[in-house]
Amino acid sequence: MTDETSAGPVSGMDALEAIATARTMRWFEPTPVPEEKIRTLLWAATRAPNPGNSQGWHFLVVTDPALRGQIGKVISPIAATVGSVQEAEPDHRAMRAGSLNLLENLGDVPVLIFVCGRNIFPPQAPQIDLLHSAMFGAAQNLLIAARATGLGAAMTSFHAPFESELRELLGIPDDVHMGALIPVGFPARPHGPVRRRPVEEVVHWDRW
Ligand SMILES: Cc1cc2nc3c(=O)[nH]c(=O)nc-3n(C[C@H](O)[C@H](O)[C@H](O)COP(=O)(O)O)c2cc1C
Repeated sequence: MTDETSAGPVSGMDALEAIATARTMRWFEPTPVPEEKIRTLLWAATRAPNPGNSQGWHFLVVTDPALRGQIGKVISPIAATVGSVQEAEPDHRAMRAGSLNLLENLGDVPVLIFVCGRNIFPPQAPQIDLLHSAMFGAAQNLLIAARATGLGAAMTSFHAPFESELRELLGIPDDVHMGALIPVGFPARPHGPVRRRPVEEVVHWDRW
């Protein structure tokens, strides 16, 4: 179950620089991603903390062009719910344009990774919240590893409205939960610094 011998890849951008600049990438080059790079992301994902080291996560990596095209088609109706770029608040326009671009071109993004998992912890009374904590930690490691290795990635819940169609298409068993869909590829736009509230607005030292 454990893989202590696997030191994994060691080259990549400094971790803090990757965290600071790993914005959600919604624009991708169609260039294929070498398998070695994909494996680096999966290695990072599977090093994440998780409840009781139960490691309930599973990853479905889709690179087959025909399947990607079908996935893109299944998910494409979400585009109609996003709204127009012009009607978005100025702060949200770039995100909306990016979301529409990603949805319209999802089938052409070179790698589509479904972060999934089985609800297995604690064994006597498994809790879905704990599985989600494992899947989301893994997803974050994957996003940071993508940034650190020159790739772009987007955390999405695009799968959610179409779970049954996607399960059927991809053969995902009924007892496997789907946590996220992360498109991955070489970025077609620059990564910028992530924009977040100042630390001091949300941090409480010693007492609230
Ligand atoms: C659980 C979760 C679900 C998300 N779902 C979507 C999504 O469906 N589509 C999308 O474009 N971005 C999605 N995002 C990305 C967020 O919109 C993004 O992280 C946030 O706006 C901050 O922007 P940044 O990551 O570029 O800094 C999701 C993020 C999380 C954590």
